[in-house]
Amino acid sequence: MAAMPAELFAVLAAMPDEARVTRAGRDFWVGHLHGREVVAVLSRIGKVAAATTATLLLAEFGVTQIVFTGVAGGLGEGVKVGDVVVADALLQHDMDASPLFPRFELPGTDISRLHPPRALVDTVCRSLREALAPETLAARQPALMEQLASLGLGQPVVHRGLVISGDQFLSSARACAALRGALPDALAVEMEGAAVAQVCHDFGVPVTVLRTISDRADDTAHLDFPRFLEAVASPYAVAMLGALLPLI
Ligand code: ADE
Repeated sequence: MAAMPAELFAVLAAMPDEARVTRAGRDFWVGHLHGREVVAVLSRIGKVAAATTATLLLAEFGVTQIVFTGVAGGLGEGVKVGDVVVADALLQHDMDASPLFPRFELPGTDISRLHPPRALVDTVCRSLREALAPETLAARQPALMEQLASLGLGQPVVHRGLVISGDQFLSSARACAALRGALPDALAVEMEGAAVAQVCHDFGVPVTVLRTISDRADDTAHLDFPRFLEAVASPYAVAMLGALLPLI
């Protein structure tokens, strides 16, 4: 699942044989990527839309795991624009049925954080660190190195930790500070991952959530978002999937 059209287009360009199947207004692209049978699809934005897309992938297409790539706002200290966050836990930051249930808990489950399998997260982090290492990028994607430099970005760091999701695009220092106060270990904020993780949890299927940091979720000046997506986030998505798919 890709969050942004530019990422999906980059993935489709690497698929030799995709065929379109439309369900619930969504185009699912069935084919192969790096030798694996895959279904590529846009998640759509927000928790409900992404949960519907995930449910269709699992119930209609019978996929056995979901890999989500997209962009996110950086919340954790040291999580910079251009870095990648691999979720080892996901939580819906706008879930609050208190006083009936503790804040953030998914009602009826006793769970607030969903954890992808640890061994899967280990494999994903190891392979992404190798795929995004300066020597690998310089050898395989020299143009990407130039784009990073021209956007003023350093070498990407792969972080591992809590990713939080909610139906808001976060763009104020105040909102960020409130979330950091409530969830000090959150590394990144986005709008779909924890919803997809909840669907995968219900179906007993593993999920991988990879997010490239596009902004710091505060009111600092944003870099050229379309250019970042085209030049950095989309090639990252393809490079990361290329590294992962043979291993997971
Ligand atoms: N996706 C990318 N940046 C984001 C932000 N600041 N808030 C929510 N989702 C995002």
